[in-house]
Amino acid sequence: MKTFKIAALAGDGIGPEVMREAIQVLRVTEKKFGFRLEFTEAPVGWAGIDAAGIALPDETLAVCKNSDAILFGSVGLPDRDPTIPKEERPERAALLRLRKEFGLFANLRPVKLPKVLAHACPLARERQGDGIDILVVRELTGGMYFGQPKKTEDLGGGNQRAIDTMVYTTPEIARIAHVAFRAAQLRRKKLTSIDKANVLENGILWREVVTRVGKQYPDVALDHMFVDNGAMQLMLKPTQFDVMLCENMFGDILSDEAAALGGSLGMLPSASLGATNGKQTFGFYEPAGGTAPDIAGKNLANPIAQILSGALMLRHSFGLNDAAAAIEAAVATAIAAGHRTGDIFSPAETGARKVGTREMGGAIAAAI
Ligand code: IPM
Ligand code: MG
Repeated sequence: MKTFKIAALAGDGIGPEVMREAIQVLRVTEKKFGFRLEFTEAPVGWAGIDAAGIALPDETLAVCKNSDAILFGSVGLPDRDPTIPKEERPERAALLRLRKEFGLFANLRPVKLPKVLAHACPLARERQGDGIDILVVRELTGGMYFGQPKKTEDLGGGNQRAIDTMVYTTPEIARIAHVAFRAAQLRRKKLTSIDKANVLENGILWREVVTRVGKQYPDVALDHMFVDNGAMQLMLKPTQFDVMLCENMFGDILSDEAAALGGSLGMLPSASLGATNGKQTFGFYEPAGGTAPDIAGKNLANPIAQILSGALMLRHSFGLNDAAAAIEAAVATAIAAGHRTGDIFSPAETGARKVGTREMGGAIAAAI
């Protein structure tokens, strides 16, 4: 029987409770579709600091290196940040480090507003058209997140200067553009590339390279949009978008905005992929939302983003397309049956029932 090794890094805040539901759902597909998943749980983030003194303990990294994919929860507890230097905080020392370590340059964030959740979308119904269905492709290992120099200098007299550097090279832009064009070919064949070419050198190069790569994909309609306009167009007419290609920081911002259109950040999964050897692609799968410390441990979090991240893992890293589709269908079934965590609940909706993290996970597992 095919066996896949998974590093399960639940992390902080709501991470552990949504991870538990995702593993439960994945276990059901395992039986039904006939493959084996070997989960190894390991601490990361503040959980790593509490267990081993650092956000990404060596043993956790070793578990990841020894796995076929990483299923990740979320890290970061802002209240505890002041207790350690900024370089050691989980966002930089664990999450960004893992992205870099495994060369996970391609981040896919599929936003889909199910028709029955129209009330959870902040836009008026007429702007939702026939439904919102956008794939944000975000470059994940370049740009301002990683560019050097990155530091805060003392200027004397109580003043400081903070420096972040935005850097992209031609190959970095080209490889993420190829990912986006190939994704568009499998969808509605439209790609909108986001940049700030009216101000940034990076934006000019981004547009040039994406345009050049686009010549190899004549079946995909390419257009370009400045990021400020892109943010506005998402609000005005989200149905115009199929695939949105963004550099790292623009993709961070626009994917949260798009997630709100999809009903809730708690519904947005993501896949972060590195280079593929054609057979198997190492990947990192995580909900796009954060640790939500305010609701952690209260059985309130929406586990759907984590569960759908598990589906993306089956598809992109293991090629288990049927099992992935079964999870996605089960999520749709649970929603159609009226199960709603607080983030997608409206008292005005008839037939809907407010449920907790466990009930939602259970309903999805039962629907497979
Ligand atoms: C995301 C998150 C991270 C990011 C944070 C937690 C560092 O917002 O994955 O979108 O900015 O990339
Ligand atoms: Mg973000």
